[in-house]
This record gives sequence, C-alpha cells and structure tokens, in this order.
Amino acid sequence: MKLSTKLLSGAAICAATSAGAVDLEVMHWWTSGGEANAVSKLAEAWNATGNAWVDGAIAGGGDTARPIMVSRIIGGDPPAAFQFNHGRQAEELIDAGLLVDLTDVAEANNWKEIINPPSLLDACTIDGKIYCAPVNIHSWQWMWLSNAAYEKAGVPVPTNWSEFMDTAPKLQEAGITPLAMGGQSWQQNGAFGVMAVALGGVDAWTKVNADKDADTVMGPEYTKVFEAYGAARALAAGLNVQDWNQATSAVIEGTAGAQIMGDWAQGEFALAGKVAGMDYDCLPGLGETGVLSTGGDAFYFPVNSDADITAGQKELAALLVSPEVQVAFNSAKGSLPIRGDVDLTTVNTCTQKGLDLLKDGKTIPDAATLLSPDTTTQLNDLLTEFWNTPAMTPAEVQQQYADIIASAD
Ligand code: BGC
Repeated sequence: MKLSTKLLSGAAICAATSAGAVDLEVMHWWTSGGEANAVSKLAEAWNATGNAWVDGAIAGGGDTARPIMVSRIIGGDPPAAFQFNHGRQAEELIDAGLLVDLTDVAEANNWKEIINPPSLLDACTIDGKIYCAPVNIHSWQWMWLSNAAYEKAGVPVPTNWSEFMDTAPKLQEAGITPLAMGGQSWQQNGAFGVMAVALGGVDAWTKVNADKDADTVMGPEYTKVFEAYGAARALAAGLNVQDWNQATSAVIEGTAGAQIMGDWAQGEFALAGKVAGMDYDCLPGLGETGVLSTGGDAFYFPVNSDADITAGQKELAALLVSPEVQVAFNSAKGSLPIRGDVDLTTVNTCTQKGLDLLKDGKTIPDAATLLSPDTTTQLNDLLTEFWNTPAMTPAEVQQQYADIIASAD
C-alpha cells in the first residue's frame, strides 16, 4: 500500500466550531442494535464536553469498514478518529506517518500504569510511541446457547463442546439449527480460531499463530480441530444469514441452538431483554479450555493540519480511557474495561466468567495481534471456501491452512 502524507495537508478534516470546541467525525463499524447502543455512550460523553460527535458508522463489519477508512485517510479526507481492532491493522498507516502520536496523552493520564493487560498498550506502541487509545477487551472465545431451543428439544443445555455435538441431532429433530453461522468469512475464520484454542489447546494454537509453525497445523491436535470444524459445518445448514447479529438473533429467538461468536453478542442479548443464565447460557472456551483472548477495539487519530482538531483528538483519546466512559461503554457493549481500577456496576453471570478468567491470568493474545492483516485475509478466504463447499474435506483444508501458515508474516 502506498500512502501519501501530501494528500492530507490541504484537507479540511473537520470543522472547528468555536475556540476549543470541535466537531469530530468518528468512524466505526458498530451498527447492530447492541453496538449502536454502546457507541451512543461514547457520543454522549463527548458531546457533554461541549464538543460534537459526528457519527461515521459503516455497516457490514470490520472487513468492509477498514478499507473504507483507509481509503478516506490516504485519499486526503480522513475522519478525526476511527476504530480498528487491537493489533497489527494500523501498522502501515503508522509507518507512513499518517496517525497522531498520543504519547503525551498516555503519559499525562498514566496509561502505562492503568491499562490492563499491558499487551493492549503494547499493541498501540511502535518504536516507543503510542498511537492508539484502547477502549475495550473483547474475547472471541465464547459460545452462546439458547435455553429455549434446548428446552424445546427436550435436552439439557450443553456445558461443553462434546455435549453440544451429542445433543445436536435432538435439536435437528425439533426443527432447530444447532449452530448459527453468518455468511461473512471473518465469522467462519473466527469460529475456527475458537475451536482451535478450545479443542486443539493453547500450546498448539500458540505454535500456529505466534510461531507460524505449519507442522503443528498438520499435527494431531489440529487434525482434531479440522475434523470438528467439518462436523460443525454440517450442523449450520438451514440457517441462511449474513451478519453476525442475525445469527445471534436466531439464538435469541430459539430457532438456532448456539453460536460461536465474540462477547459483543452479549450486547444483542441485553438489548433484547434476555438474561444470562436464564434465557441464554455461555461457554468460554466452548466449555473445554477456559481462556479469554484479549482482543477488542482501539481508536486511532489521523494526522491533520488544524491545531484545534489535534487538540480535540487528544481530548477525545483521554476521555475514551477515562473511568466513567469505560464503565458506561463496556457495560453496554458486552466487553470488559481496559483498566484494572474500575468495576462495571452490575455484571451478569457471563461477564463474571470472563472477569474471573481475566483475574486468573487465563488469557491469550487475539490472533489479530499475531497475524498480519494479509494472512488473516488468506485464512478468511480459505475457511469460507471450506464452509461453503460441502465436498471439500477437512484434510484438504488442513493442507491449505498449513501452506498459508508456512508463508505467514
Ligand atoms: C469488534 C467488536 C464488534 C464486532 C462485530 C469486532 O471486530 O472488536 O467491537 O462488535 O467486531 O461488529
């Protein structure tokens, strides 16, 4: 990707309204009901400072939104702030000098002391400079289950993956799709990652994702994972939805038994008035390997030539990390705060399970912090091909997965 700072110099990025008060356009992909509710907490907090939040939501998920954001930035019409996942997605923009250095904000607000786990700030740091404000911890390592679906099928709600598999035929007999899966490739790759950790174990997953060890992909632990993934594919037939939150809705309505999805799904259950432990259940690590990945979202701020905007960007960065905003936003989002010194006011049983794992240090990095965006795209493409090609065998996808890992950066 070729990026040009020249393009930015003359750009009217955002209007300064009056001395000190600015309109900032903030781009993100939070468009489901739960997500929109959560982002409104950020907007309210920013508007309460006398500044104005100009909402730049992009529908269709991160894979759709990120290229649009990047093209706005390199095309000379950047937003004031944008969401990316914790990890390597912004590396090229930072290298090209297109993002504001927030080190002074981080130092003034003690981010090094308060941000927990420290890996979140590490993911924002390049050559000792801090380029992003982490806002939440999200974990992919969850399965969400519909209590109503299992009741209708006359079987207990599974407590682990093997029970989920054993009870799947009963759900099918009751006309329920056991596994809800949306049509976008990131969802299929994400679910595979969860199964790899849960069924292949943390060691094998780390060898593959951190060490890029293709032999482990071909080894016995991952063979088990590919076979289970093939079996899961068969259990998703019959529910044709695209967006992740449509798949979550099927679990909420009880037309599907379960969904493997990050804990942002909790925002949808909450908005639908569903109660954890009563209406739905949750299995971190699929009830097999209790760990939490510590991914999530961070905000980055494109460089611009207006000092008022730069000051506003830094003010917003500090506000996003502040205790009040952390509690309001994360309570609505289904995510955990990025600072260890705040408590969410009321947490449900699922969030509590997540907090317990975090407290016990049972965490792994998110794959997005280990794999380059290019490798992730290749894995997305491969796994969606497998998911949509019933004739493709687990052994075939395993070999191709190993080839990608062998050349991954
Ligand atoms: C983000 C979440 C978001 C989810 C679905 C993830 O990449 O980290 O904040 O809710 O995508 O849109």
